[in-house]
Amino acid sequence: MCGIIGYTGKLEVQNVLINGLSRLEYRGYDSAGIAYFRENQPHISLRKTAGKVKDLRAVCDKVNPSTCGIGHTRWATHGGVSTANAHPHRVGKVALIHNGIIENYAAITNKFNLADELQSETDTEVGAALLNHFYEETHDPKETIRKAVAEIKGSFAFGILFEDHPGEIYAVRNVSPMVASFDPKIGAFIASDVTAFIEHTNRYFVVPEYTIASLSPEGIALEDLEGHPVTPEIMTVDWDLTAAEKDGYPHFMIKEIHEQPAAITRTITPRIKNDLPDFSGDQVPDDFFKGAENVTIVACGTAMYAGMVGAEFIQNHLRMPVTVSIASEFRYSQPVIDKNSIVIVVSQSGETIDTLEALKLAKQYTDRTLSIVNVKESSIARESHYVVYTHAGPEIAVASTKAYTVQVATMYLLGFKLGLVNGRLTEDEAKERVQALKAIPGHIEEVLQYENQVKELTSRMVNAQDAFYIGRGLDYRVAMEGALKLKEISYIHAEAYAAGELKHGTISLIEEGVPVIAIANQQKVYEKVISNIREVKARDAFVILISKDKEINDPTVCNVHLSIPDVPDDLTVFETAVICQLIGYYTSVGKGLDPDQPRNLAKSVTVE
Ligand code: M6R
Repeated sequence: MCGIIGYTGKLEVQNVLINGLSRLEYRGYDSAGIAYFRENQPHISLRKTAGKVKDLRAVCDKVNPSTCGIGHTRWATHGGVSTANAHPHRVGKVALIHNGIIENYAAITNKFNLADELQSETDTEVGAALLNHFYEETHDPKETIRKAVAEIKGSFAFGILFEDHPGEIYAVRNVSPMVASFDPKIGAFIASDVTAFIEHTNRYFVVPEYTIASLSPEGIALEDLEGHPVTPEIMTVDWDLTAAEKDGYPHFMIKEIHEQPAAITRTITPRIKNDLPDFSGDQVPDDFFKGAENVTIVACGTAMYAGMVGAEFIQNHLRMPVTVSIASEFRYSQPVIDKNSIVIVVSQSGETIDTLEALKLAKQYTDRTLSIVNVKESSIARESHYVVYTHAGPEIAVASTKAYTVQVATMYLLGFKLGLVNGRLTEDEAKERVQALKAIPGHIEEVLQYENQVKELTSRMVNAQDAFYIGRGLDYRVAMEGALKLKEISYIHAEAYAAGELKHGTISLIEEGVPVIAIANQQKVYEKVISNIREVKARDAFVILISKDKEINDPTVCNVHLSIPDVPDDLTVFETAVICQLIGYYTSVGKGLDPDQPRNLAKSVTVE
């Protein structure tokens, strides 16, 4: 939530910041702003506005020769969406950008008598005033930062300009992410993530927590709060600018939907040896799985729905108890886990604060935590005992698509491994399942051929107030993800129901034309689901049926039938999910909305 960037070097900073911010916009798009040194003079200028980065572009100078500055795109937490609340915040000689929350901003305001200096409603401005307070005392940026962070409770990634230090940027963080990079030919960068500066360099490092980074055109110096030098671990991203751009597609979301076959292949291939699951490349030893008595899966949103799919497999096929928890609930619970419990946390960003805190809680009970994470070296990845990275590449659209299917694929491989190591799955059974999983990318390509058909049928969805997704067993789990996809980007109220549960209340909401997306891919309950579908069809719902049947022409069952390729029941989740993603996307587009940046949302949820 909120994206930050800073740059000092040889390039004109305004372009660097605005281009970077446009790629960080997925983190928040309520307001945007930049601060820069005017032509390397000890004078800081600010440009900011409520609205998106394109609105910021409009209020910036046409030509700006400055080569040092900071920029911010905001997801509002403290204080509404306004230009006054936009970052950077300047107090006295300090300009500050911030991603995170200063929890004790009220106490700091009182303790240091800062109220008269504040013009916005933000916690960040209190941070700027606090920094300025110490800077007036010390005239030393690093000493100022040391004193300020000792007072602040909460999460922060700060980028700071001090007026007497043109050409320099200072940065420090706690919890909130920050990466940095230096190239002697270009200059020094900090940002919330690498996408912000990927057009300039693919080398970066994670700024360690409570480490002060001092950026100048000559380099980046790091030191801890005691003044000891810190040496970072330099990393390279394995994707380039095109992965962070739309590449000819109208939106990131549809691009990312189409990237799924390749993303799944990239994710599973390194974890398969001789058609058996193999996590040796991830340094996860067999001992991690051995003797496990139960599994707890913790995540938020789509990542949690991916966890639910994994849970179905582990429970039904390995007969091992599994609990799936919403991270924000789990973190304040008293979980029933011990050293024989495996805890799997799932997160695309690796930053979701509730998931991170849930993981920390789980570690108090067991040494067997494993994260499934897409963003390398993110907080969750570093906090867990083991990490299995998904290789979806950067996911920019707020609605998660490719991250979900690679998480599900990873959950399956982990499930196979868990079964093998504990004698709950034979090698032949595991091989058969792995082979079927390897074929999934090809089947997704087939499903993507339905794109135009799905686009057409969403014309029946755009005026809907409500929609329902129904299924049983695994289909119910994927129905939840389908409903989330529709509601978050089309603003249509959508709910998933276990098909058998409808008649216990919800069926009263079914009336003529209400869209019902019915999923019937589980052989064991196929007839039951079809009966449930008939019940809503009899009440004139508009039924879109997803099933493995080649053809269904029975008007008492559905209005539209989408036939998916015949794969084992467990694996239909991939094909169904892709259809649900297309339904969500085209409904949103059909309503004239922006599916990439739905209202009120941000991609990484780093606040509670
Ligand atoms: O980065 P994470 O996977 O931890 O994010 C979890 C959720 O915030 C995320 O899946 C959210 O629900 C998406 N907007 C769903 O499309």
